[in-house]
Order: sequence, then C-alpha cells, then structure tokens
Amino acid sequence: MSLLAIRNLDVRYGAVAAVVGASLEVGQGEVVGILGPNGAGKSTMLAAVAGLVRAVAGSVHLDGRDLGRLGPDRRARSGIVLVVEGRGVLGPMTVAENLELGAYPGGRQARSELAARLEEAYELFPVLRERAAQPAGVLSGGEAAMLVVARGLMSRPRILLLDEPALGLAPRTASDLFARLGELKSAGTTMVIVEQKAADLLAVADRVAVMRGGRIVRTAASSDVNLEDLQQAYLGPSTEADLAINGRKLA
Ligand SMILES: Nc1ncnc2c1ncn2[C@@H]1O[C@H](COP(=O)(O)OP(=O)(O)OP(=O)(O)O)[C@@H](O)[C@H]1O
Ligand SMILES: [Mg+2]
Repeated sequence: MSLLAIRNLDVRYGAVAAVVGASLEVGQGEVVGILGPNGAGKSTMLAAVAGLVRAVAGSVHLDGRDLGRLGPDRRARSGIVLVVEGRGVLGPMTVAENLELGAYPGGRQARSELAARLEEAYELFPVLRERAAQPAGVLSGGEAAMLVVARGLMSRPRILLLDEPALGLAPRTASDLFARLGELKSAGTTMVIVEQKAADLLAVADRVAVMRGGRIVRTAASSDVNLEDLQQAYLGPSTEADLAINGRKLA
C-alpha cells in the first residue's frame, strides 16, 4: 500500500482549473519528483495535499486513511509537512528557535527529544550548527534554504513535500542542497519534490511526474528518463528559447 495516494484530484481557483484529475502514489521511502512549466499546477497539487487549498473532487489518502476535509493543522499532525521556498523563516529569531518551531506540528516535545532532533538537523546541515545562535535574517540564500528544509524535518514528518526548495539559488548551491536531499532519501525520508531544474531532480528522485495544464501527463522511473526527450516531449517545443521556461533553463 502506498504511503500517500492522490486520486483524481481536481482543484479550481474560481474559473481556473489548476489541477485536473491528478493521480499519484508515493511509497514509503520513495522520492517522487514533479516537473512542469510555470502554471502547470505543481504548487497547487502540493497545497491540496497539505490541506491549504481544498480540492473540489478526488481524494488524498495517507496510509490508507482518507484525509477528507481535514485542514492543514490536522494534516501536519498526521505527518504531512509542506516546505515552501523562502516562506516563513523568521528573521529576528535565531536559527535554533526557527528549528524548534518546526517541531510543534508533531505535538509538544520533551526537551531531550527536541535536543536529539536539533542534533540530527545539525548533522545534516553543519552550517546551521555554526549559525545556531544567530538571527535567521543574516543567513545567505543557500543557508536559509537549508533552514526551511531542516525546520520541516523537525516534526519528523511521514512525508515531506518540498516546493522548489532551491528556487533562486546559484546552480552550485542548488546542487549542494539536492545532495543533502539525497542523504535524506538514503536515511529513508519519503519526499515529493517540485523542481524546475530537471537534472538535479532526476539525480535524487526515484520517479518523476510531469504536469502540464493541471494534468499529470507522464510518470516514469528517473532511470528511464532521458532529459532531452523529456524536454522535447513535455516541457516545451524544440526551439532554444522554449527550452527555458520563464527564463529558467531546465537542465
Ligand atoms: N491563488 C490563486 N488564485 C487564482 N489562480 C491561481 C492561484 N494560484 C495559482 N493559480 C493558477 O493556478 C494554476 C496553477 O498554478 P500553480 O501555482 O499551482 O502552478 P505551478 O506549476 O506551481 O507554477 P510555478 O512553476 O510558476 O510555480 C495557474 O494557472 C495559476 O495562474
Ligand atoms: Mg509553483
């Protein structure tokens, strides 16, 4: 049985059909990537899974349990954590305080448990240990991106949903962040990752789903995907200009 099962999901914003009949299953320990051009519905699908927007049709099951109309708090408590790039790092608070906030959806933690989780976060992202007592507002873009991922892990989610975790980072910094996500995968963390840099995504994801116009138009094992074919077939026509989506190169 899948850990997460999205079935025939429809999400609308007024007249806009943002997600149309999307179905996707994610197994325990699996990493599934979501690719697709701007406006494809990637963020909306994650938001619907996290309960931040309400689907008009379809279902989301976690561990076989229909999440129905549960709101975002209840979904977070049941283990679904959505990390949105650049969202909600509290600048005046220290790095450590930001991390501690991340533990709350999992319920009140004993001091020792909190310390153990902080230690894990610092092991994965050593730079955060160095910065622990500093206000989060002084972090570089790459460090802030690591902080939001680390904070998302603090409640020990059953599944981590990452919406463009490397958005705006320099290519090397982005690849470094993806390397850490690879370590998380090796440690057994189940993830759904939206990313427009297909090369980074394919390196960490077991499978990728391609969205276009609200629909999942293809899913494939990462090992079966040829980057060039993917771009030609789904992410835009063959002209050089179209290979960059809104100015962002895919590879
Ligand atoms: N709050 C909103 N109100 C109305 N329409 C919205 C809203 N958010 C998104 N949309 C529309 O829904 C569709 C899907 O948007 P969404 O943000 O999910 O796409 P995306 O694949 O995440 O795109 P991007 O790559 O730009 O982040 C688009 O047509 C978008 O314009
Ligand atoms: Mg988006």
